[in-house]
Amino acid sequence: MRIGILTGGGDCQGLNAAIRAVAKSLMLNNNAEIIGIEDGFDGLLKRHVRQLSYADCSGILPLGGTILGTSNKANPFDYQGRDCSADVMSYYHELGLDAVVMIGGDGTMSIAYELSKLGMNIVGVPKTIDNDLMCTERTFGFQTAVSIVTEAIDRLRTTGHSHKRIMILETMGRYAGWIALHAGVAGGADVILIPEFPYDLDEIVKACELRASEQHYSIIVVAEGAKPKNGAMAVQETISDSPDPIRLGGISDVLKGQLETRLKGEVRATALGHIQRGGSPTANDRIFATNVGAFAAKLVAEKLYGRVVVQQKNQLTSVLLEQVANQTRGVAKDNITLQSALCLGISFGVENLKATTGF
Ligand code: F6P
Repeated sequence: MRIGILTGGGDCQGLNAAIRAVAKSLMLNNNAEIIGIEDGFDGLLKRHVRQLSYADCSGILPLGGTILGTSNKANPFDYQGRDCSADVMSYYHELGLDAVVMIGGDGTMSIAYELSKLGMNIVGVPKTIDNDLMCTERTFGFQTAVSIVTEAIDRLRTTGHSHKRIMILETMGRYAGWIALHAGVAGGADVILIPEFPYDLDEIVKACELRASEQHYSIIVVAEGAKPKNGAMAVQETISDSPDPIRLGGISDVLKGQLETRLKGEVRATALGHIQRGGSPTANDRIFATNVGAFAAKLVAEKLYGRVVVQQKNQLTSVLLEQVANQTRGVAKDNITLQSALCLGISFGVENLKATTGF
């Protein structure tokens, strides 16, 4: 067997653990040759690949980033204004690959689905700090990002407390509020704002004033994709040629400006940015990445192509690429962590949200 591996989209912690699991499993159990495709789909477009030895895949388990490199720009179907998918398919055949394991998020899985329709044998492995992939309860990288954000909240709490300030922390997560919700609950935030529930500024002011009657500081965790009711998300820039053309960011500064005019105390904003994606994966993410990688190798060995490894009801299984492509998964009202937060009086900037969850 000759199997390609690529990592696509934004990096996250656990990518190397997954590469190692896929490659070692296939080498040890199926005597497979492993071809590392460099820089995501860029490697297929620019013909940059290298054979991975067993030694190349050793010692990489705790490393952040990806030894293969990645790109969240290269899209074979829209590359510098051209559809280069036929070139990519020819290169796949020239390389003599039996299949490619694609480790990525929704952008990668959407491209993978299109390539699978052209005849490429693909097994998908879900990764992203955003935790927003369809059909899976979890993606590796998410738990590590949540730990990093939680630590940041703990740090903001001590300085916010000393100065009696409103501390706003902006997280990543794109159009989903998973990181903000989980880290906000783990860090004991007073207000959590997520894209799934557009906020009302009056409600945030109310929550901060209520908090001020008990404690003279507040912690607000805001997801980069959060937006006001009848308003828009804060966009940093738009990028052409990318499967993910909108770069979000800046909502914490917007909110700081708005709250300063409404509240008595001082307000400070921190955007954590790419710190959330860097460094080593947690032990738990290493284990999860290893499990999904080994599971993907098993699908390859059984020639079960066109599928993505997912976790459902705490078990690993697989679904069709088309079930995952071109969609994302947000926080729903029946989410237990959301409901617990509401029970504890954490505000989501929405009047009577608790009453609508049915908890
Ligand atoms: O999808 C992962 C992610 O980190 C998002 O949370 C964020 O919006 C985006 O990628 C940032 O992308 P870039 O690395 O291109 O700035």
